[in-house]
Amino acid sequence: MKTSVLVTGGAGYIGSHTLVEFLAAGYHPIVLDNFCNSSPGVLRRVEALTGRSVTWREGDVRDASVLDALFSLAREQGAPVECVVHFAGLKAVGESVAKPLDYYDNNVYGSIVLLQAMERAQVRRIVFSSSATVYGEPRSLPYTEDHPLAPTNPYGRTKAMVEAMLADWCAADPGRTAVNLRYFNPIGAHASGQIGESPRGTPNNLFPYITQVAIGKREKLLVFGNDYPTPDGTGVRDYLHVSDLADGHVKAVEYARRARPGCFAFNLGTGRGTSVLELVKAFESTTGRTVPYEILGRRPGDVAQMWADPSAANELLGWRASRSIEDMCRDGWRWQSQNPDGYV
Ligand code: NAD
Ligand code: WQD
Repeated sequence: MKTSVLVTGGAGYIGSHTLVEFLAAGYHPIVLDNFCNSSPGVLRRVEALTGRSVTWREGDVRDASVLDALFSLAREQGAPVECVVHFAGLKAVGESVAKPLDYYDNNVYGSIVLLQAMERAQVRRIVFSSSATVYGEPRSLPYTEDHPLAPTNPYGRTKAMVEAMLADWCAADPGRTAVNLRYFNPIGAHASGQIGESPRGTPNNLFPYITQVAIGKREKLLVFGNDYPTPDGTGVRDYLHVSDLADGHVKAVEYARRARPGCFAFNLGTGRGTSVLELVKAFESTTGRTVPYEILGRRPGDVAQMWADPSAANELLGWRASRSIEDMCRDGWRWQSQNPDGYV
């Protein structure tokens, strides 16, 4: 019998890549997405890519009735949901500063409604999309999971709040398991070029901005600061291939199914830092495209550098990021060049 997993936000950037990995691993993913930052066309691409059909419903994670219906559906099909993988949420740091209540409503209240529905359905395992942003200004690097949590913006605070809520939820029942995955900087796209990141409007993040410059949609990259205490003065991040990150979710569900119950946190990163200009150079040499850039001042709220200590995930989840920066650039460019306007 197949194992069902409920995937909230499964049509999004990371969720769609994770569906591919769940299908390859023999799971039965059931997707709930309100398509506020994606479209059903993404799921059709996943189906074409995997040759498998995807069960999905359009709906909001804050809607208890749709959650109840999905848990019932899985039970009626003979494969009750064993674990929820919770991607659904809003993720733009700047927007969270301007509209904090939207973020607390979607990310925190949405998680409460989801956990309540899980209790009704007696589902006791959840894998949660947390973020390295929960750590805030690094006191030491690399970040280990016991680094204090001191997020510096409302988005990051929603992630830290949900992590705290999950710890309390697990403490209240010795049969519950929560796995908080603290992602570093996922970039790139599936190697097929069929699914990838499709930001609406001007990209907030570095990598989709680079690919949009490379394809001629934007004139030049604006580099936010070259006076940081880093080797070339530009910001350093731990970029990981989105397909490696997706695989981390399969490993996390397997861990949740086999480990003793409790609340856990894992960094998902490569353990290596790359600067903005190193990423630009790697992109140019891998793809043969030129990425003109201009140096501007620092972006408010940015830290100089951060990277993960992924050893807990390596050892306990049996997960390791295996793809290189060149793989990320090549696959991200394949997606951008084959789909110049993203999902249209
Ligand atoms: P995304 O916006 O591409 O995907 C999120 C999906 O959730 C979208 O399909 C959206 O339509 C859906 N969604 C949003 N609110 C919903 C709601 N209330 N009900 C149902 N569906 C809803 O984002 P992503 O990059 O795939 O990120 C997925 C998760 O990982 C998010 O929780 C994000 O905060 C977290 N995360 C992302 C990054 C990153 O760099 N992309 C880093 C760390 C953590
Ligand atoms: C990377 C580097 C910028 C854009 C953000 C969120 C974080 C997480 C991932 C969800 C920095 C520089 C960027 C540009 C640039 N998301 N940059 N020009 O800031 O590490 O993380 O996304 O959880 O919460 O904060 O990623 O890609 O925005 O920036 O020079 O146009 O690129 O200053 O040094 P960041 P990013």
